[in-house]
Amino acid sequence: MTESKNVFVGIDLGTSRSSISTSDGEHHMVESFVGWPLDMVARKVLKQKVLVGRDALENRTMLDLHRPLERGLLKEGSDKDQQAVRELVSYLMEVSGVSQARKGGAKVRSVIGVPAEALRVNRQHLREAMRGFVDHLIIVSEPFAVAYGLDALLHALVVDIGAGTSDFCVMQGRYPTDEDQRTLPNAGDWIDDQILKILEETNPDLKASIHTARAWKEEFGFVGHSKKVVEVTTPISGKPTEIDITAALKQACEALVPPVAETMLDLITSIEPEFQERVRNNVILAGGIAPMSGLAQALEKAMAPYGGGNVQVAEDPIFQGADGGLALAMDAPRSDWEKLPA
Ligand SMILES: Nc1ncnc2c1ncn2[C@@H]1O[C@H](COP(=O)(O)OP(=O)(O)O)[C@@H](O)[C@H]1O
Ligand SMILES: [Mg+2]
Repeated sequence: MTESKNVFVGIDLGTSRSSISTSDGEHHMVESFVGWPLDMVARKVLKQKVLVGRDALENRTMLDLHRPLERGLLKEGSDKDQQAVRELVSYLMEVSGVSQARKGGAKVRSVIGVPAEALRVNRQHLREAMRGFVDHLIIVSEPFAVAYGLDALLHALVVDIGAGTSDFCVMQGRYPTDEDQRTLPNAGDWIDDQILKILEETNPDLKASIHTARAWKEEFGFVGHSKKVVEVTTPISGKPTEIDITAALKQACEALVPPVAETMLDLITSIEPEFQERVRNNVILAGGIAPMSGLAQALEKAMAPYGGGNVQVAEDPIFQGADGGLALAMDAPRSDWEKLPA
């Protein structure tokens, strides 16, 4: 009897973006939004049962829109969020050709990376969400998948700042335990909220959406010294008005530094003293927020009183998690996999 072909897959299930990398060389990303038409009219307009990704976001007025891992957790007891995760996974499996390979008899071995907190609380829900798509599964935290992909396995700390959560994982040359990992709710979405709050305090008639605040943060966000004044045009009392958002951006982005630095130092001081210096000098900043101007330097500064440290920004925030998951999938021995019922 010939053994059936294995397809290895890494999936990064993120709050804002989810991505897949496969052993057949496929890479795909989808924004983590899923929506169902609200009523008969919406169904008639959209002509689809369900919309996924940017399509869902753009048609949101007609949809019951879900972002299933908002704040890093699958909401307990929410069938719709569970279904939304299945739709995201289904989409990724289809576009990358994995579903077709599985129908052709291949066995799918998938490592799935999720926020560290979801791993602790939602393991069973995640398993259910993967049923019917994969044959063998390993669930890991996102920062661990990133660490594995970068080969940062020993005396390293990955700080993965995404949209819904900041996830931390210290690597000590083995699979990380719960004590090696932390999750904070302060991340990209939280900065977006802060930007709006600060601006609305000084301009009560300003009506900007959270999507606009996110775009400003992505384009102009910074920590420390600004290189130039940031001016944007936005409606105030209905009239397009130019406003200076430099101070608001700085305040909102810098608010992230104290909680992240505190958690980072807390994790570092929890490991054996003789390894702490090596970890301080091997901090990897990952996730969508990582490239923000001045952030890595601010985290280095926070380590100065403890003997100093080095923070490197990881490349490719979109696929670093999925690529790490794929690397792990290719290396994992049979005993590390759990078999899912068909
Ligand atoms: N160039 C950028 N500068 C600052 N923030 C960014 C940039 N690009 C993306 N982001 C932010 O990164 C976050 C998404 O990061 P990501 O790691 O993809 O999140 P998740 O893993 O939670 O899906 C969002 O808050 C997004 O606005
Ligand atoms: Mg992520």
